[in-house]
Amino acid sequence: SRTQHQFKLVLLGESAVGKSSLVLRFVKDQFDDYRESTIGAAFLTQTVTLDDNTVVKFEIWDTAGQERYKARAPMYYRNANCAVVVYDITQTASLEKAKTWIRELQRQADPSIIIALCGNKTDLEARRQVTKEEAQKYAEEEGLMWSETSAKSGEGVADIFISIARKLPKN
Ligand code: GTP
Ligand code: MG
Repeated sequence: SRTQHQFKLVLLGESAVGKSSLVLRFVKDQFDDYRESTIGAAFLTQTVTLDDNTVVKFEIWDTAGQERYKARAPMYYRNANCAVVVYDITQTASLEKAKTWIRELQRQADPSIIIALCGNKTDLEARRQVTKEEAQKYAEEEGLMWSETSAKSGEGVADIFISIARKLPKN
């Protein structure tokens, strides 16, 4: 028989790194070149079926990265089973912001939360500022999952959610 497991996932990261675009790619397999900045937060769901037929349903909170919404973030990461913290590989400052979110999660979120660091916009390789090596090294030191994606091409997007789904405890 198929067992369905439900998990709460929160996306965090600086404005314009592509959080909403990653969710749109994962949930609807679409991409917009001109996406409006998120106001407050958006809620979406999507399921993933693993090789053993386990179905994992993600309840996704796509938060707003603009500074004025920062104080609301705890409402979304509280009780979250997993977090995807996104930076833009073409913006060094966005990795620094991602590190700030990770420190906050490590202090304030559930201690069992699974955190995935995600470098988005790999289609803009020519404008890369953050090397794979430096991001991967940081992720290893902090015990985080790490990968790169392009919401535009779709590269790596489903893999993040599948990897998280595999890691989540299913009792
Ligand atoms: P906030 O809602 O303000 O926090 O921003 P966000 O992180 O949700 O960013 P959003 O998904 O709105 O994307 C911002 C801009 O980056 C949009 O113009 C997207 O089209 C673009 N974008 C997102 N992902 C990619 C990507 O993988 N490659 C490229 N080239 N552009 C991207
Ligand atoms: Mg958004």
